[in-house]
Amino acid sequence: MVEVQVPETLSGQAQIGQRGFEGLCAQCHGENAAGRQGIGPPLVHRIYEPSHHADAAFLLAAQNGVRAHHWNFGNMPPVEGVTRADVMAITAYVRELQRANGID
Ligand code: HEC
Repeated sequence: MVEVQVPETLSGQAQIGQRGFEGLCAQCHGENAAGRQGIGPPLVHRIYEPSHHADAAFLLAAQNGVRAHHWNFGNMPPVEGVTRADVMAITAYVRELQRANGID
């Protein structure tokens, strides 16, 4: 849904997060968190910049799900079997993607 510039290098934490993201989140949030038409929003988006959605929001989203409020994709269900460490790595990955796209 959005053009995402992929950073040339990712930190070790973000590389771990990328694998987690691809396994658990990309089915809805799209490859490189660019969103999927009709399914889920891009996380590389101003709405999700750190000052509006802090890292804790990622943990809450994964553990409890999200009631639709920004988009019309419907609710996000809780992600089964995801750990706090998984989400922290995934968040580091999304933040590095965001920064590479001027979202900070
Ligand atoms: C079944 C589809 C689906 C999966 C899988 C999914 N999401 Fe979501 N997610 C959504 C949708 C849809 C929304 C948008 C809700 C709205 O309208 O605000 C969302 C919103 C979010 C938000 C914003 C929360 C807020 O407070 O507004 C975050 C952060 C997020 N997702 C992270 C993740 C992460 C991390 C994963 C993987 C661990 C993941 N999502 C997996 C569908 C999904």
